[in-house]
Amino acid sequence: MIITDKETSLVSQVTEKFNDLFAEDPLVIRSPGRVNLIGEHTDYNHGFVLPAAIDKAIYMAITRRDDNELHIVSSDLDHSYRGKVNQLEPSSLQWPDYILGVIQQLRKDGHAVGGFNCVFGGEIPLGAGLSSSAALECATAYSLNEIYGLGLDTLTMVKLSQKAENEFVGVQCGIMDQFASMFGKKDHVIRLDCRSLEYEYVPFNMDGIGIVLFDSNVKHSLASSEYNTRRRQCEAGVRMIGSHRPEVHRLRDVNMEMLDEWVAPADPLVYQRCRYVVKENERLLAACDDLQRDDISSFGERMFETHEGLSRQYEVSCVELDFLVDHVRDNPAVLGARMMGGGFGGCTINLVRTEAIGELVAQTSAAYAKGMKKELKAYVSTIENGTSLVR
Ligand code: GLA
Repeated sequence: MIITDKETSLVSQVTEKFNDLFAEDPLVIRSPGRVNLIGEHTDYNHGFVLPAAIDKAIYMAITRRDDNELHIVSSDLDHSYRGKVNQLEPSSLQWPDYILGVIQQLRKDGHAVGGFNCVFGGEIPLGAGLSSSAALECATAYSLNEIYGLGLDTLTMVKLSQKAENEFVGVQCGIMDQFASMFGKKDHVIRLDCRSLEYEYVPFNMDGIGIVLFDSNVKHSLASSEYNTRRRQCEAGVRMIGSHRPEVHRLRDVNMEMLDEWVAPADPLVYQRCRYVVKENERLLAACDDLQRDDISSFGERMFETHEGLSRQYEVSCVELDFLVDHVRDNPAVLGARMMGGGFGGCTINLVRTEAIGELVAQTSAAYAKGMKKELKAYVSTIENGTSLVR
């Protein structure tokens, strides 16, 4: 695996800190954040998504202990956590929960996981919708699989990382983030069927086009409660149809006729939510055809449509994200833009002609400062491999 200078320095930072604290030579695991090109809030409805792992990652240095103790340090936050593998309780620090949740799942499945020493750090901004939490869960699953020789395959680690978030952290997330973090492949997006979990790597060779993330700097604090509410609204829609059509189990099985007939008259809000999901799933499939035909402008148009749906029908956007998308909409150098991830803050994803990136970042930052009175952060992302052993 080729590692860049920036990665080398992050790896040495966590390794040195680990050496200072524990005087041992650790394994180091890299686990990346993700972007999603299109297909938002479709994963838990058993639809399709199109994510990719990115160049921003968490690095976890770890060794096994002979007892049941957990000595864990977040080097970025300068926090330490101590606990025991056989007494797993949610922590007031919050970040340990992503790690503890994974231990809990492994132990539930009968794996003999004991204590460990661990230092982790990295550069996935927290609360920016780039899935730092999934990266931390995946880093933990991968690391424990290595140091305890559990022999788990990648998909098993993905599923238990997702379950850790559902059960220990309490966010009813789908499988997309953990799947992308683990299965990512350099220069490819993953077309994942979230029902069968069949997937295909689609080359993402957009010559002359870069992925630019605009971080609204709004932390998605509403995200977990509203996220769970959206999920329940989708399930409510399915139940309204399922009583007439027993073959319907998720919104994946639903079309507009069914929604119009059974959901619209019963609950207009649930109808609006479900309509977004059904349309988004159709959009993703059409967008994959665009990619195959190299029709990037049509692909980009669909991203704008997704944003519209997320903002107006699914109502998971916020004024700052809407501002950022509106601001670039008529710029000919921007092929597509939309809010990304769970919503209520975090980043927009923009496909931008490479030569115009510098200017766009400068101009959008100025407009954002003026219009929203907030600082904008911009990241130009590349698509990289998924979770792996660095050393
Ligand atoms: C969050 C969740 C994912 C997915 C997205 C929305 O990132 O963790 O499972 O549902 O929101 O597409």
